[in-house]
Amino acid sequence: MRVLTGLQPSGDLHIGNYFGSIKQMLNLQDDNQMLIFIANYHALTSNFNGAELKQNSLKAAAAFLSLGIDPNKSIFWLQSDVKEVLELYWILSQFTPMGLLERAHSYKDKIAKGLNANHGLFSYPVLMAADILLFDTQIVPVGKDQIQHVEIARDIALKVNNTWGEIFTLPSAKVNEEVAVVVGTDGAKMSKSYKNTIDIFASEKVLKKQISSIKTDSTPLEEPKSWQDCNVYNIAKLFLNKQEQENLQARYQKGGEGYGHFKMYLNDLVKDYFASAKNEYENLLNNPAKLKEILEFGASKAKKIAKSKMEKIYEKIGL
Ligand code: ADP
Ligand code: TRP
Repeated sequence: MRVLTGLQPSGDLHIGNYFGSIKQMLNLQDDNQMLIFIANYHALTSNFNGAELKQNSLKAAAAFLSLGIDPNKSIFWLQSDVKEVLELYWILSQFTPMGLLERAHSYKDKIAKGLNANHGLFSYPVLMAADILLFDTQIVPVGKDQIQHVEIARDIALKVNNTWGEIFTLPSAKVNEEVAVVVGTDGAKMSKSYKNTIDIFASEKVLKKQISSIKTDSTPLEEPKSWQDCNVYNIAKLFLNKQEQENLQARYQKGGEGYGHFKMYLNDLVKDYFASAKNEYENLLNNPAKLKEILEFGASKAKKIAKSKMEKIYEKIGL
């Protein structure tokens, strides 16, 4: 299957992102043709600080590579390195009814949150449709909030195909329903907008601070504790196999250890789990030339597919 996804370069990744989405993406690499890009054109709708956007894009690329995107298995590039997508975006705009965009939840939510209604924000789904359709994508793995955008891409593809014949492959969204919501340090959904995250690439000091801020109850040290609704346990279990989870449950039930002990244990789990990725992340960020080389390698492969698709489109539309 040809699977494509775009990743927003929006700040530091947390373990909710990892267990909720990145891990599934990495699993798809082996049996599919994966296309993955850093969506820096999309990020323009919410970031007008050029230096920051550039740095965020490099950080996102370093993060995803170090976590396991393999540029020899997947095509991995920076969206703005394959400019054909903007050309297709304009062409697709002619096949995008206003009503389709007016119904987009994500646009309505952003406006409700006080973002200025501009054309970029409004036409965001058309650019996303161009990302998807340019590469004959079959499957788009997404979080629930993005399903409607994939449906919009499908609607646009259908309209084009009705006019020009079978130009575009119809994409489908794939939502991983089994993935549970990862809780944050306050017990609500972990999210950078709630400032309750445990970050994958945090320094030791920040990691310690984030973990020590996890909310727990006030059961005294010597008493047995309930693991079921403990935020520390619920985060730790993500890193543990069944046997290890049972061992930790036994420690809770036995009493004699305080939440501080369990937090220390969680701290080690997170540190060990991401140790080699963190090392690679820092290496890549210290070597932007290598990072750019990897992104250019991916862009050259993506461009080849994009160019050949555009040739067919030019012919149909008379450009
Ligand atoms: P945030 O809420 O921190 O802004 P994003 O919306 O950027 O995170 O999420 C990026 C991806 O990570 C999405 O696919 C989303 O489903 C997944 N994700 C984010 N937070 C969690 C969480 N707490 N539990 C499970 N998956 C999550
Ligand atoms: N809109 C997506 C998000 O915010 C990012 C994205 C851009 C994307 N283009 C895409 C995702 C194409 C899937 C396919 O997460």
